[in-house]
Amino acid sequence: MTVFENLQQIIQDIEAAQPQDVEALEQFRIKYLGSKNIIKPLSKGFRDVPNEQKKEFGQLLNKAKQDAEQKFQGLKDNLETAADEAVGDDLDLTAPAEPIALGSRHPVSITMNRIIDIFSRIGFAVAEEREIEDDWHNFTAMNTPEDHPARDMQDTYYLKNSTSMLLRTHTSSVQARTMTTQQPPIRIIAPGRVYRNETISARSHCQFHQVEGLYIDKDVSFADLKQTLLYFAEEMYGVGTKIRLRPSYFPFTEPSAEMDVSCFICDSKGCNVCKYTGWVEILGCGMVDPKVLENCGIDPEIYSGFAFGMGVERQAMMQYGINDIRLLFENDVRFLQQFQSAL
Ligand code: DAH
Repeated sequence: MTVFENLQQIIQDIEAAQPQDVEALEQFRIKYLGSKNIIKPLSKGFRDVPNEQKKEFGQLLNKAKQDAEQKFQGLKDNLETAADEAVGDDLDLTAPAEPIALGSRHPVSITMNRIIDIFSRIGFAVAEEREIEDDWHNFTAMNTPEDHPARDMQDTYYLKNSTSMLLRTHTSSVQARTMTTQQPPIRIIAPGRVYRNETISARSHCQFHQVEGLYIDKDVSFADLKQTLLYFAEEMYGVGTKIRLRPSYFPFTEPSAEMDVSCFICDSKGCNVCKYTGWVEILGCGMVDPKVLENCGIDPEIYSGFAFGMGVERQAMMQYGINDIRLLFENDVRFLQQFQSAL
């Protein structure tokens, strides 16, 4: 076969080629257009072609290259269109989207957000702080003596090999964090998780949530505390809710009190939740002990203030009729998806 005949055969082959898929098309490209294509060696035979045929041979060479290029482009376009159409067959752009499973808020978050919302409306700023705390902010600054049972290894989770770093046992540590970094007036609420080494049961857990409140300014009185808490109780549990302050003891407040609200489940008539007393305990509170102010670098001769701290889980459980605190930490979707909230 002469180089001429060879070339003509190639041109015929190019015309006849019918690659049906991407792979066959790639084979075609490699054969006729790749760096080792079969046309290349023929162009080397150019000089053996008699002079009078050189022109024709050159034209044929060019034709072979152009045919291969054109055929390749055409086939490629066809294959791409076919692929698009295949997808298009079952792609309906007007179809409604696949439903996305919507989450719902956790009952503890709902309750905590309500508390934050209520205090935000009267100017309390949210202060969030660390859960791994040091001994000073959690206990010492808060006037909790060395021999206080809360400091016991039995109650507090200390970090491994450390007697000074711990998981905060209450959000009162945020009081110390705030007072050592800000000057009065201070008006904050501190929501967050706290930890205590307690046996897990239907009533208690080793982790739970609190919201702390702190107000420091000139001339803050117990009446301010009482009024603020009454406002909270009515917003949280309904207009007409009564509050009752019982004398109590906390190392960081003096005087200290515990606050009950009239039972919002039975309207104080007596039920399981209020144990037939008509009252439910909600929080601890008091006037910030001058020693605490002093510890944190605030002059108790000039400033005074009040503080309070409440548990979130108990309030959520009462409100939603949940009788086992463990449900709040198990994250069973069947339980969690029952709660709806705007907050
Ligand atoms: N920190 C206390 C606790 O965990 C709650 C508490 C009581 C906070 C009185 C306060 C307070 O700020 O004034 O039991």
